[in-house]
Amino acid sequence: MLVVEQNANMALSIADRCRHRFPIFEQQLYINSCSQGALSDAVRSAYGQYLDDWDEKGAPWEYWVERQETARSACAGLVNASTDEVAVTTSLSAGVSALASGLRYARRSKVVLTDWEFPTIGQIWHAQESRGARVIHVPAAADGTIPLEHFERVVDEDTLIVSITHVCYRNGAMIDVPAVVQLAHDRGALVLLDAFQAVGSLPVDVKELGVDFLGAGVLKYLLGSAGLGFFYCRRELVERVWPTQTGWFADENIFAMDHTDYSPAPTAARFQSGTPPVPAIYAGIAGIELMQDIGIAETREHVLALNAHLLAGLDDLAATVVTPRAPERRGALLCVKSTDANELVAVLGREGIVTSERDGNLRISAHCYNTREDVDTVLAALQRHRELLA
Ligand SMILES: Cc1ncc(COP(=O)(O)O)c(C=O)c1O
Repeated sequence: MLVVEQNANMALSIADRCRHRFPIFEQQLYINSCSQGALSDAVRSAYGQYLDDWDEKGAPWEYWVERQETARSACAGLVNASTDEVAVTTSLSAGVSALASGLRYARRSKVVLTDWEFPTIGQIWHAQESRGARVIHVPAAADGTIPLEHFERVVDEDTLIVSITHVCYRNGAMIDVPAVVQLAHDRGALVLLDAFQAVGSLPVDVKELGVDFLGAGVLKYLLGSAGLGFFYCRRELVERVWPTQTGWFADENIFAMDHTDYSPAPTAARFQSGTPPVPAIYAGIAGIELMQDIGIAETREHVLALNAHLLAGLDDLAATVVTPRAPERRGALLCVKSTDANELVAVLGREGIVTSERDGNLRISAHCYNTREDVDTVLAALQRHRELLA
């Protein structure tokens, strides 16, 4: 490439460089990546490739298992884990359920989780009450954060695990993960991080965060599709957890076809289950590779700048933003209080702006492909529908 051309490319914003890969922008203003990432040309063609391979090769299971391993190492690389510390799952829930099924709620029986958790996390832990778990909820404060003191009050020598979410799907707040990990570890408890609303939107490093387990999926900021998740387990803990929710892809040798015993893999593959989600694996690999190419750290900077602009505009509208203000206390998602959030999402939808709602809040979640003009368009629409902002 000519140096002049290269310099010109570098001057383009991240969105200018990647937006043409996402055809939805020809029709709509998509700013809803907290629900699902926009479909890219790469992911569409990965699905085509899956169908071609099926057509041309019949049942290429060895190749598909290889693809699963590729997805496994791609997911591991994303969070700075090694491949053998990661399981490929069909959802975040599947990985967390395998973990919950493999813990014993005896010597320590308390599970501490926050009021920010996605329903699946609460449901999985409450399901363990029939196995002896005692589940305690840590409440959020009025300012939309969860202060460390709230954890200090409940994490004790009976606590087995503290289950936290990195970025809350309801208000976009980001928890201080290392501080919670430090407290939990000091008191002998393990930590599970639900990183679904963080992966792909900002750098996530399990070693830096110090978490013991992490669950996520690829369909939001990782640009993959439904059907693929992953689960990380710190190496030293793998063989201390004995999942009883399991399947043949969790076996130490899946090709042994041995139905006479249960010998889980000595790696985090023990958190896997049955036949892997092959089509979603093709799509997930394509999405992750595209996101790595675009740049996750660069995306974080880009979205923080967009959200600073969005926040200033929301303040001009005197809107109530429920997401914490400090940049290090929020993810990509900004949430705005509405008098009728369903109606607000619907009117924006009629104007070609795709958003979502939870908990009475409008959710606006920019990603690598969104521009400052997108933010201006959203703000202009919110001004027209000011009566729907609380
Ligand atoms: C924070 C968070 N955790 C978990 C989930 C659900 O994950 P899964 O359906 O893959 O189990 C979601 C989905 O929206 C989420 O936002």
